[in-house]
Amino acid sequence: MAVEVGTRPLSPSASAVNPLRAGLESNRITDPCNVVFFGASGDLTKRMLMPAMYNLRLGGVLPTNYGIIGFSRSDKSHYDFREEMKEAIDAFSRSGEARDPLWNDFANRLTYISGSFQDLDAFRALRAQLEDNDQTLGTAGNRLYYLATPPAAFAEVIEQLSAAGLGPKDQATGWSRIVIEKPFGSDLESARALQTEVNQVFDEKHVYRIDHYLGKEPVQDIMALRFANVMFEPIWNRRYVDSVQITAAETVGVEGRGGYYEGAGALRDMIQNHVMNLLALVAMEPPISPNADHIRDEKFKALSAMRPFSVADVPKLTARGQYGPGLIEGKPVLGYREEPSVEPHSTTETYACAKFFIDNWRWADVPFYLRSGKRLAHKHSEIAVRFRGIPHRIFGEAGDAIENNTLVMKIQPEEGVSIRFNAKVPGPKMHIRGVTMDFNYGTGFGVVSAPAYERLIGDAMRGDATLFTRWDAVEEAWKIVTPIMERWEQSPVVDFPNYLAGSQGPQSADALLVADGREWRRI
Ligand code: BG6
Repeated sequence: MAVEVGTRPLSPSASAVNPLRAGLESNRITDPCNVVFFGASGDLTKRMLMPAMYNLRLGGVLPTNYGIIGFSRSDKSHYDFREEMKEAIDAFSRSGEARDPLWNDFANRLTYISGSFQDLDAFRALRAQLEDNDQTLGTAGNRLYYLATPPAAFAEVIEQLSAAGLGPKDQATGWSRIVIEKPFGSDLESARALQTEVNQVFDEKHVYRIDHYLGKEPVQDIMALRFANVMFEPIWNRRYVDSVQITAAETVGVEGRGGYYEGAGALRDMIQNHVMNLLALVAMEPPISPNADHIRDEKFKALSAMRPFSVADVPKLTARGQYGPGLIEGKPVLGYREEPSVEPHSTTETYACAKFFIDNWRWADVPFYLRSGKRLAHKHSEIAVRFRGIPHRIFGEAGDAIENNTLVMKIQPEEGVSIRFNAKVPGPKMHIRGVTMDFNYGTGFGVVSAPAYERLIGDAMRGDATLFTRWDAVEEAWKIVTPIMERWEQSPVVDFPNYLAGSQGPQSADALLVADGREWRRI
């Protein structure tokens, strides 16, 4: 079977090859548009954003009339910027090196403004470039601003956009939207302060808070699995579900981001945003339509039903860890405290887990165990819904292990769904064993999923906010983690580093589940 890249076939005949994809339509963005990347010399722009733009163009998704403007401090010409972006695309694009004639056309639409975020003149120059693009590239006054800067610059860029007359309220024609990278604040208070700044210039309908997990295909499939099938929803509740485990495990360390990570840690970096978003999708009630606000209303309701922790409860409901040196894929790696820009006695957690409850009729007493960590045994993200045991056992000898049924939504690196159930072992006796039924996206649909950033940038250009986090959910997620942050800050850690790089995580995390008569799934 031919393998297609992204959500569009590479050849016109490809959809004929795969009947599952028949009838899928072109996804081309209709509105002309300029995209402005603030932080255009940074890693995110080079590794993710520019390759995503190029592949959107390659896949025929970008509108006919578009322009791309990079904005950052370093001094360079349009020509230098184009060269730099070509190198980035060559190195990081999933479609390989940028090639003419497409590259030539793409490069001609790339321009660069150099300036600091304090420099109002640079923002005026940006305005002139945008107006020029409207004339020469036909971009019709539509603007997507993308904040790929360090979070400390978010408020400043927004203020300067307004001062230069570049906010949505300054426009006679066209639209302006802003994409804001994570983290949105570093605690509840700073998130609220940032939200106030944002709202002075942009209304909520103009704001696209990015959480790249929501752009991953298997994450979007959670809703399809739940709400496009009849067989899961009747058992998706406390009567049948024993517990839910959500895991986002990484093998990478802090990858040169020690400076940022020291002030963040696993709870802020992963649990407050990516993992909470997964929880909301698993726990929410069926939305009445796929409309962005209907979905986001239900996600917000699920988060706001989460049982608040008291600071005193934190030790029995959470565990934290920090990796020491160890082996990843057989190769020795440094401990966290030896990484560049990390304090030699750092108490920042590189692993966090917690047990949550959702106080509503559906989930009342079902524990949701969430965990995320760096330098673990494997890169592995999944949601596992474990069902209750059978009510009465009629089969199986003493030695037979009748397992609880488990449904696993595999997010990465494998993408798919598996169901674990019990079956008879062939032979004259009624022996029972657990077996797995597997669905895999790659083989099921014959496609390689497009990277999350491609999907999300495209959606923001289209004005579809479904996969972006609304302010109320961000605020709720900060409220949920605040007592944990407070308690962890108050009580000094004495046992860091407490897990080896390449392991399953700290023993205290295992103890959290053992106390409930359960265990973590293996990473
Ligand atoms: C980012 C975090 O949001 O997500 C990183 O800041 C983390 O620390 C990354 O490594 C994980 O993303 P993915 O897509 O590799 O699971």
